[in-house]
Amino acid sequence: MRVVLGVSGGIAAYKAIEVCRRLVDAGHHVTPVLTDAAVHFVGETTFAALASAPVQRSLWEGTIPHTRLGKTADVVVVAPATADLLARYAAGMADDLLTATLLATRAPVVVCPAMHTEMWEHPAVQDNLARLVARGVVVVPPETGRLAGGDVGAGRMAEPAAIVAAVAAAGGPRDLEGRRVVVSAGGTRERIDPVRVITNRSSGKQGHAVAEAAAARGASVTLVTAAPLSVDAPAVEVVRVESAADMEAAMVAAAPGADVVVMAAAVADFRPKASAEVKVHGVPELVLEQTPDILAELVRRRDPGQVIVGFAAETDDPLERGAGKLERKGVDLLVVNDVSAPGVGFDHDTNAVTILSAGGGAVEVPLRTKREVAEALLDRVVGLLTTTHRDPPRTAPADQTGRTAT
Ligand code: C5P
Repeated sequence: MRVVLGVSGGIAAYKAIEVCRRLVDAGHHVTPVLTDAAVHFVGETTFAALASAPVQRSLWEGTIPHTRLGKTADVVVVAPATADLLARYAAGMADDLLTATLLATRAPVVVCPAMHTEMWEHPAVQDNLARLVARGVVVVPPETGRLAGGDVGAGRMAEPAAIVAAVAAAGGPRDLEGRRVVVSAGGTRERIDPVRVITNRSSGKQGHAVAEAAAARGASVTLVTAAPLSVDAPAVEVVRVESAADMEAAMVAAAPGADVVVMAAAVADFRPKASAEVKVHGVPELVLEQTPDILAELVRRRDPGQVIVGFAAETDDPLERGAGKLERKGVDLLVVNDVSAPGVGFDHDTNAVTILSAGGGAVEVPLRTKREVAEALLDRVVGLLTTTHRDPPRTAPADQTGRTAT
């Protein structure tokens, strides 16, 4: 997506640098637009080094820069949005490049207010915000925390991860609106005793990326995760699990009624037959047993029209093994990755996969961020939902006017 990152003059401008880096890392094309006040807090050079396009500051450089920026943007995000910036935007003023761009765009706009508590709670600020919300502007509300000068209170700008998630949600397709998606993630941990576990090298990052991407596309998402990762999408319901047995119970409970089930978790294939109640001393002799095949159970119980996706991490003949697994598991899509390849699979932020389809055909996704791989997978899922599977949701998509990203 083409993102215009507006930065106005508040101390939280230092966090806009991280927002810029994360947006670029997520594959977006970012043009920073700094107000004169912003450069009192952060340097143009810092943004220049991180962004995808030169920093823009003036209405008077280049040819009508505000309309060019406004027309080409997929999303305009202002982080931080000061009380002054919100007032000028709400009043329809256009006396600098950022406010002029905000008026010249038809793209979704996300504002991330940041200011002292007294200012944040002032009726003038709240009135301005209400006017913007009524016009469809998405607000990422500030948090309560440490403010400039050591004060503590409401008004601290939201964390960069939440802002990036709100940008993705505002600018991306809403093609999973009204759908329910259940995703599993992470490597399960099978207890040997209260201290030791058998697990695997899965980080859970790919499954979390699928959950976050589905939420950004409008789905209501349940993420059943064994990974100790935070979730950057507040709309995702997170169920934390440890073992394959926990995960099976949580998935079997969540899957009925879901439109899509994605088993991205690396379920431990075996576990100790019995786990000790107290810490084992010395070297135990472990008797292992197979864990339940959760995916097979979900396929057995599937609702009519439910799309089920499996993952396969392979180290040899990935495509051949994947094709066999696709058929054996009875899933609609199987995401195969060769985890022995550089930058692929476990613990990396990138992945390269082939998405095999039960209807025939394979889509290759070359080395990309895990979020981009998730988007490619969801494109396929949406294709299945709209062509061969369920009807689109009967309820009309939620009215987005005044939608507030929290
Ligand atoms: O481990 P394997 O390659 O067979 O995993 C393929 C798919 O099956 C994955 O989607 C994984 O989440 C799922 N699986 C499962 N229960 C297991 C093992 C694997 O649901 N016990």
